[in-house]
Amino acid sequence: MIIMGIETSCDETAVAIIEADDNGHRCLSHALSSQTEEHSTYGGVVPEIAARAHIDKLDKLVATAMNQANIDYSQLDVIAATAGPGLIGGVIVGVMTAKALALVHDKPFIAVNHLEGHALSVRYTDPVGYPYLLLLVSGGHCQLLEVLGVGLYNCLGTTLDDAAGECFDKVAKMLGLGFPGGPALAKLACYGDPERFQLPLPLRGRPGCDFSFSGMKTAARKLITDLPVGPLKKQDKADISAVVQLGISNHIVDRCSNAFDMIAEKPSAFVAAGGVAANLFLRQRLTQLAMLKGFKFVAPSPELCTDNAIMIAWAGLERYRLGLTNEMNFKPRSRWSLESLRMQTSL
Ligand code: KG4
Ligand code: ZN
Repeated sequence: MIIMGIETSCDETAVAIIEADDNGHRCLSHALSSQTEEHSTYGGVVPEIAARAHIDKLDKLVATAMNQANIDYSQLDVIAATAGPGLIGGVIVGVMTAKALALVHDKPFIAVNHLEGHALSVRYTDPVGYPYLLLLVSGGHCQLLEVLGVGLYNCLGTTLDDAAGECFDKVAKMLGLGFPGGPALAKLACYGDPERFQLPLPLRGRPGCDFSFSGMKTAARKLITDLPVGPLKKQDKADISAVVQLGISNHIVDRCSNAFDMIAEKPSAFVAAGGVAANLFLRQRLTQLAMLKGFKFVAPSPELCTDNAIMIAWAGLERYRLGLTNEMNFKPRSRWSLESLRMQTSL
């Protein structure tokens, strides 16, 4: 079975082709182009610029992926694309391209939920069985979920305001670390003193596993404005980065700890996915928590945590195996919760 996956929901344009047979699965090609330059002057992703960049890049990346995989369209079994949630202009570009390819080459089309792409990505790299406890932490989402199967998600907790990635990015912007901020802040944090300041633990002592990051952003801003007037020193930036990375991680670990007490069925593993799960400090902390609770911690490699097309092809493959293809009139959508998939897949 050979499947093409297309990802265009934010600022990464990507096309992957993966192959699966009785001996396992492998990536035949992955062509990815980030729009870092296009958005850097604005300090964040500009939806209209992103959509136009996807239009410019996608056809070339499809051709590159097909060349690298060294296959022709007759060998492809199915074409999958992110159909939401995300910036709608980009999602439309990916879905229309996938539908056009599927129609011309007479292949089935699969509309992949981007969050399901992140949620199932771990099964591409590790043989993790259902159910598993999932921390999904990205630029737009922060959720704890029981993953019971393809299309079967039970949300245990979600963010009451911002996502963890947004908090990383906003503080990085305050520190003038450029865009995208999360990885830059994580790098600088290696040289900082995480104990120099203390950030309040959001929702301290509150039951459940919802998240809140807006207070942390405000607290970080106060740390910066309380410093002596003048340009921020390199060490100040590094210390604040380390303090914020620790604060975000402490909050996530605190909430995940509660989630273990809320799961109905014993999970096979504790999994983290999404761009923020690429953070090595957070991964260490989550590994420690999992050990304490008596579970295995698994996360895809950092390149598979941030947006990519391999996870979209993989989620498409998991759906295709269950016979879950979509009609050509499937509409791209900017909002699309994981929990709503249960009805749409009628599993
Ligand atoms: O999953 P993703 O690539 O896109 C979304 O679906 O949102 O996640 C992007 C987010 C950004 O906020 C980015 O700053 C953050 O993930 N991120 C990181 C790291 N790598 C990416 N945050 C902290 N540390 C990292 N190493
Ligand atoms: Zn994502």
